[in-house]
Parts: sequence; C-alpha cells; structure tokens
Amino acid sequence: MPTGQCETRDGTEEAYVIQVSKYAQSDELYRRALQSIPQGTHSSSRKDSPHPFYFRRGEGAWVWDIDGNRLVDCVLGNGALVFGHGSPIVREAVEEAMAAGLESGLETQLSVEVSELFLRLVPTAEQVRFATTGTEAVMHAIHMARAATGRPDIAKIEAAYHGWYDLVFVSTWPDLAKAGQPENPVSLPGTGGLNPAAVGSTLVIPFNDAAGAVRLLEANAGRLAAVFVEPVLIDVGYIPPTPGYLEAIREATDRLGIVLVFDELLTGFRVAVGGAQERYGIRPDLSIWGKALAGGQILSAVAGRADLMAESAGSAGFVGTFNGHQWSLAAARASLTALADGALVRQLEDGTRYLAERFDQAAQRAGVEAKFHGGGGHFQCYFTSEPVRDYRSAARADGRRYTCFRTAMLDRGVFLVPGYTGHNAISTAHEGDVLELVADAMDASLEEVAAQGN
Ligand SMILES: Cc1ncc(COP(=O)(O)O)c(C=O)c1O
Repeated sequence: MPTGQCETRDGTEEAYVIQVSKYAQSDELYRRALQSIPQGTHSSSRKDSPHPFYFRRGEGAWVWDIDGNRLVDCVLGNGALVFGHGSPIVREAVEEAMAAGLESGLETQLSVEVSELFLRLVPTAEQVRFATTGTEAVMHAIHMARAATGRPDIAKIEAAYHGWYDLVFVSTWPDLAKAGQPENPVSLPGTGGLNPAAVGSTLVIPFNDAAGAVRLLEANAGRLAAVFVEPVLIDVGYIPPTPGYLEAIREATDRLGIVLVFDELLTGFRVAVGGAQERYGIRPDLSIWGKALAGGQILSAVAGRADLMAESAGSAGFVGTFNGHQWSLAAARASLTALADGALVRQLEDGTRYLAERFDQAAQRAGVEAKFHGGGGHFQCYFTSEPVRDYRSAARADGRRYTCFRTAMLDRGVFLVPGYTGHNAISTAHEGDVLELVADAMDASLEEVAAQGN
C-alpha cells in the first residue's frame, strides 16, 4: 500500500508533524485480526502488504475500503464477479429466492431449469451436477474418472490451480529452484500438511510443450485416470494455449483412455460463452465451472459426457448439504440468461483488448520491457522481454517492477492483485470512463516504472 500522507501543523511551542495514514483504520483492523485469525485473513490469497484490503462497500466496478478510499476493483473476487459488485442481475434474483424460503436440501423446479439452461450454453456437456466450490467439483471429477477407468492417479499442468486438497494442490506456483527440468517437472507440494504419497502420485506436465506433455502421459498412462487442464493458464496471469497444444492433449488422452477434464472456473462464460472448449474447439470429457457461473455467488458445476456422469449416480457418490443451493441457483439462472447471447462476453473481450493496446503503447513510450496478456476480461502485465508461454517464463518476469507498477496503479485509484503471477480482471461494469481511468493509470504507472530504472 502507498505510504501515508503527511500534514504539517504549527503548535504554540514548536512545529510538529502528524502522520495521517490513508489506511489508519485498515492498519488497526489488521492488528486486531491477527489476534483472532491466522494470517489475519480467511483465505491466504487475501494476504497483502502491509494489510489486506478491508472492504466497506462496492458498486459496479468500484470498491470502498473501511478508510473511505475509493478504487476501481480489478481483483473482483478472484475473477468471480463478472458483473462487478452488487449487480442488480444477481441481487434481484437472490432476493427473490430468499423470499421463497428455501436455502438448500431439497430439489426444485429451479434446479432442473438451471441444469437445462447450463447444458444449452455448454454444448459439450450432456449432464451436469451443481456443488458449492470449485475444489469440490474437481474432487468429484476425480472420483468419477477413477470409477470409470479403474486407475488411481491424475496428471495436471505445472502451476495450474484446481483447489486446495492433497491431489491437486501440487506444483502450484512452485519454486523454480526445486521444480526440476521444464520437460519433466517435479511434483512439489503447494503447501505444508499434504499427504506426501498423494502429492507424489500426481504427475505434473508442462504447459504449451505438446511433445513433452504427451511423452509424460504416454509413460504414465497405466496409472492415470484423468488429466486436468486449465485451458488458458489464468492462475498465473493469462497464458493462452499455443496452437496444437490442447489438440495434442485431446488426441493423447483419447488414445490412452485417460479422462480429459477442462477446469473452466476462470475461462467459463468469459473467454466465450461456452468457455475455452468453445473458443478453442476442443471437446473435453468432463469440465468444471464456477465463478461467473452464478455471477460470483457460491456455486460450482461438474459436467460432461453422459456415460462418465453416470458414475456420479452410481459408484462415485455425490453429496453435500449445500449442493445446488437455491440462492446461488437463482443467481446462476439470472447470470446465464444475461450472458447467453454473447454480447457481454464480447464486451469483456473488447475491454481487455482496449487495455492491451493502451498498455503496449504506453510501455513503448516509456521504454519499459513489458507484456500485457489478456482475454475474456482477465489480464496480467508481465515485466519481461521474453515470451510468456508457461509458468516458468511468467515466474522469470520482474516481480519488483510489477510491485512498483501495482503501487503506482493503487496511488491512481486502481486495485490490482499483489502477485506478479496472479490474475487481474475487469467486469461488465468496467466500461467507458472506468476503462479510461484504468488505461490512463497504466500510462502514468509505466512512466513511474521507467523512472525507477532497472
Ligand atoms: C481454475 C480454478 N480451479 C479451481 C479453483 C478452486 O475453486 P474454489 O476456490 O471455489 O474452491 C480455482 C479458484 O480460484 C480456480 O481458479
């Protein structure tokens, strides 16, 4: 966070300075939070320096913190808030569902209608089941893939994030010094406390190296039930697949009898209405959805081929008190209806493209080596001269320059993610003047980065 403002006042005896921080209440609340909450936050991803963002209220693209600072929010609930904050689309639907008096635990006409609407928008899916978090939907996909194949293990792409339990919290943002050779990545725990046997069983494959990934899948095929793919690697910013990569994984998994799972939590209803599978024309066997699915409300989905989804009705159980929560399903119906014709998805794409153009021009003017990657309203700015095509090239970007850029953006009223391999976003409420403000802030912030030198 930027440093506090200084106000000077003359006293009767001598002049003295009072430090008035723009973030005094946030500082104070953080000190309190550390007493009752580990790290002071209820998700480690909200940790920030010198304190987390303490939200007071939000409206569209804007958020106010508890100190009254107003910022354009480009974090947007880890990319979930596709319509921005407090969108009437979502709010009215949730209020109506609340008034009906059912939260969860019973099936309704709404549960069926939202399933049908989802399947219309995601043509590769023949059946769908709704859960709460992405982590749970991923877990169920693993259970179904195991039940269908009789094999125990999974593969995932280096640095892709699929949730936070033992089998998938593997090699997420790994330390490059420990990560092994690019074509043969080591499976590293993403956190302490995981079962080492589970971590070791998960095969890590490279992104955008089709030959390397296929070679590893072939060598391990006998034990692999599923391979999980974040088709655009958004959990390290925004890295699209190079032509042929997803096709090669599809061909290999078909040939080797491995279930191909696309994790569309970030790509779904953003890079195309039907997600990355629509944009890149690849048909996965199963896919995972969330975030924009219910306009940022608490809902995830696992969907796919009917013969695989049949495992969910048979040998792979699917239970959960809050599965198919009515308020979230109401939000999903409203969100999917609003997104269905593709106009808002195109608006997000156009907004991202506009920011990319402005960033590239400004970086060139300022003489800063940097790359703007984005699509579907997600973006990241990498301070590097090398092409960013996988986690390793992203991780080699200059984190110090990103921090300088982010601080300068914050000073100009734009809130970005703290990490240089994190992902930023715009919502459908980021248009017109708001988009101009972000673009102008980028111009000025790149000048500041240039002024800092190397
Ligand atoms: C691509 C992807 N998959 C899965 C997850 C896990 O979802 P959740 O946080 O709802 O458990 C996330 C969360 O950020 C994600 O970005």
